[in-house]
Order: sequence, then structure tokens, then C-alpha cells
Amino acid sequence: MSDYKQKPTTTDAGIPVSSDEHSLTVGPDGPIVLHDHYLIEQMAQFNRERIPERQPHAKGAGAFGRFEVTADVSAYTKAAPFQPGTKTDVLQRFSTVAGERGSPDTWRDPRGFALKFYTPEGNYDLVGNNTPVFFVRDPLKFQHFIRSQKRLAANNLRDHDMQWDFWTLSPESAHQVTWLMGDRGIPKNWRHMNGYGSHTYMWVNAEGEKFWIKYHFHTDQGVECLTEEEATKIAGEDSDYHTRDLFDAIKRGEHPSWTLFVQIMPFKEAETYRFNPFDLTKVWPHGDYPLIEVGKLTLDRNPTDFHTEIEQAAFEPNNLVPGIGVSPDKMLLARIFAYADAHRARLGVNYKQIPVNAPQCPLHSYSKDGAMRVQNVADPVYAPNSKGGPQADPNRYPNAETWSTSGEMVRQAYTLRRDDDDYSQPRALIRQVMNDDERERLVNNVAGHLKAGVSGPVLERAFKYWRNIDKDIGDRIARAVSSGS
Ligand code: HEM
Repeated sequence: MSDYKQKPTTTDAGIPVSSDEHSLTVGPDGPIVLHDHYLIEQMAQFNRERIPERQPHAKGAGAFGRFEVTADVSAYTKAAPFQPGTKTDVLQRFSTVAGERGSPDTWRDPRGFALKFYTPEGNYDLVGNNTPVFFVRDPLKFQHFIRSQKRLAANNLRDHDMQWDFWTLSPESAHQVTWLMGDRGIPKNWRHMNGYGSHTYMWVNAEGEKFWIKYHFHTDQGVECLTEEEATKIAGEDSDYHTRDLFDAIKRGEHPSWTLFVQIMPFKEAETYRFNPFDLTKVWPHGDYPLIEVGKLTLDRNPTDFHTEIEQAAFEPNNLVPGIGVSPDKMLLARIFAYADAHRARLGVNYKQIPVNAPQCPLHSYSKDGAMRVQNVADPVYAPNSKGGPQADPNRYPNAETWSTSGEMVRQAYTLRRDDDDYSQPRALIRQVMNDDERERLVNNVAGHLKAGVSGPVLERAFKYWRNIDKDIGDRIARAVSSGS
């Protein structure tokens, strides 16, 4: 007997269907007919279920929550999400960089730490990593760097020789590679790692004063890492280990949180600081620029639909709200173009209408039409107009996030300053931050990585690279590789 409380299956047009199991055929043993549009809908939809994965950062997951300002930094920025007492809804996505969508969460790699703040002045996206620095300082090398971490053309295998070939020919990678090969190169899970904006950004206050800043999200759970052996074992047992950990923790009511600090450099000081403060391969010493508390980020809500809320989430460093600007960091300036372009390719031109990417404030844009647009602007569709359309308001929203510059157009590295070099900071990381056990694990991690497929001139260059960073560590790595231990 049929139970009318049961929801009937329908087609995508809402039309009830008469079978979940049988195609329409000519007699029970006969051929399928072309007008079985329900079968065709099922097959066609299935064939189109996958969307392209992100080029880098394909494997990841995320959650929703809130950012709450706990201190007063209004002297440095007028940005809406950083005003005293403000609470802002956020979406956060964590990721690995090089692996594909199904790759293990625990492979050694930097982790993405991407945040979207839904502010009353539009979406603010802070697209960072769990490391304060990066492998390269010129965006022309970014694509090459990512390819060197991915797969060979001929056999589609990942290849350590290719990775070390690129790194050892790019000495500016030394700081990030030291970081990556140390304990923090494999976080225990996403809850137990820090996040960093990494780049230098600009903050502007209500009076128009400008500052250079760096973001640091310190995990309130404490930093914990996995050893290479633990991570390798977990990769085989549960490739979604970090994804599961975050989801289960939030489900249990254990809401992970991070305290946000900023380092602030007076605007003029950037001109004379001893190294280029916009170089993404460097950290600013805390002795020169101490951490200043801003607020707390808490994740307390899991997605209910991974595809629409996480896979289709589009983070873009160009989403900056008044009071926050970019800096002359060439990497950051290139990212301002790269992400929206990637989203148009991956999700389509109207990706900002996907609910998770849509601003949660009034929208008065002149953009119009295009594939998959579900809501359009009202007339007038042009500016200037005398028909009551939106008008830019330079008094309320001046173009304040700027700096002055001039010069010939050249293809050159940043001008070197007194303390600009590639090795001092990774050397300090090894000698002053790591303890003996951590140094030992660094040596073993690098030696193990090199032994897996690196040889000849690339191997020799790798020993030299590490000796340049720290002679003792380089010698120990060379001995460990040569001894085969
Ligand atoms: C993802 C480009 C540097 C953090 C991506 C994506 C592209 C890209 C095209 C995929 C976007 C998508 O399809 O959704 C670049 C370029 C860079 C650069 C051109 C330098 C020139 C960086 C740096 C960081 C970073 C320095 C961190 C400080 C991320 C994160 C994601 C990402 C976290 C994943 C965002 C998400 O969760 O959806 N990048 N990137 N990238 N990038 Fe970069």
C-alpha cells in the first residue's frame, strides 16, 4: 500500500517519477526508448557532477564561524571587521597546496588558511597559509614553482628531483623550505596550527594615516605536529584525516579558535628598514615589531553541503574593504589578478552569486547578465546616469589605500638593502628557534626526501644549499644521505 507521507522522487523539474529502478523499455526485455527523459537527466547530470579542482590547494575542507574584535586597533585601521566590539561572520577553508582533491591530508606541504569575512562593507578575503613566508618572491616564478611540486609530464608521477632542482636553483626558497622540512611542515591537524597573512598589507585609519601590517593567527589549541613516520602511516589509513578531525571536533562542540595579532610598521619606516619589508620570503623580527592583539576567530558550524559551501567557495585577495590595502609586494600584486581569473575559469563568470560567495550587505553593482546569473541589476544599467542609479562616493570612500612610486619599467629583482639575503633568516630559524631534537628531525626529513629520487648534480646542489643555510646541518644531511642511514 502506498504511503502518502513518503516524499515522492521527482525529476529536476519537480515532476513525480514512477520508478527509481527501472528505465523505460519496450517490454521488460526490450530496448530503452529515447524519450525516457528521466534516465537521460540522471545520466547527463552525473556526467557533469565534477567541476575543475583548484589548480593549487585542491584538497581541503572548511567551516563557518565568527571573528570577534577583543582589542582596540581603530587607531590603525577603519576596516569594518576590526572595529572595537565588532563580530563578523566568516567562512574558513584549510587546504594542502600540491595534492589533488583526493590526496592525503597529511602529506608534507604548506597548508592554506583562507578566510572570508562577510562585512557590512563587502566581503573581505584574507587568503593566507600556515607559514609566515613563501618559496619565491616574484610572481613570474609561482607557476613554475607549483609545477615543480606537482607531476612530471611523461609519467604523471610526483618527483623529488624536480622539487629540489627548482628549490636549489631558487635560493630565495631557503627560508620556506627550512620551515617545510621542520616539524611544522606537517601539522597534527588544522586546529593545531597557526595561520598567517604572510604578505605585508596596508591599514588606513579614519584620519587617512597609513601603516604596514602583517597578520598572525595563533592557535588557541597549541601548535602540534606529526612526525614524518606518523604522517605517512596516517596517509595510508585515512587520507581525509584533517578533514575528519575538523568536522568531528565542531560536531562534538569543540570549537577551534585562533587569536589574531598584527605586527605594525610605521608607514615611513618601510623606506629605510634594514631589509625589504615587502619581501615575502622574510619575517619581521618581533623585537622590532611586537605582536598586537586584535581579536578571536572561532569556527562553530560545519557545512551542510560540501560542494556548494566549500568546493565552490571562491577566495580572492583582491576582496579588500575600505581601511585595508595591498603593499608593493610583487607576489601580492599578482595574486590580486590571479584568483578572480581562476574563479571565472573554475566556477563561471557569475561565481559571486553562489550563495557562499555572495556579500551579506546591500549590493549596488553595475555588472550584468552572463552565464548562470540568477539575479540581475535594475535599470539604469550604466553610469553616469540621471535615473537614480548608484553613484561612487569618494568623500565617504576615498581612494586612501595607496602609495607613491615612479621609475622606468624594468624586469629586475627588488633593490637590495643592507640585510637582504636568502640565508640569514632560515639560519636563525635553525639555530635560534629549533632545539636539538627538532634539528635532528630536520636533518632526517631532508635526507629522507633527498634519498627518494634525487641524484647527480641536483643532489650536490642540495648539499650546497643546506651548507649555505647552516654548514653543520648541510654536512649532517650530506652524511645521512651518503651513509644510506
Ligand atoms: C589558491 C594563485 C601565492 C594561498 C590559489 C589558486 C590560484 C592561486 C590560481 C586557486 C584558486 C581557486 O581556484 O579557487 C596564486 C598565485 C600566487 C599565489 C598566482 C603568487 C603569485 C599564494 C600565497 C599564499 C597563497 C603567497 C599564502 C600566503 C592560497 C590559498 C589558496 C590558494 C590558501 C586556496 C584558497 C581556497 O581555500 O580556496 N592560489 N597563489 N597563494 N592560494 Fe595562492
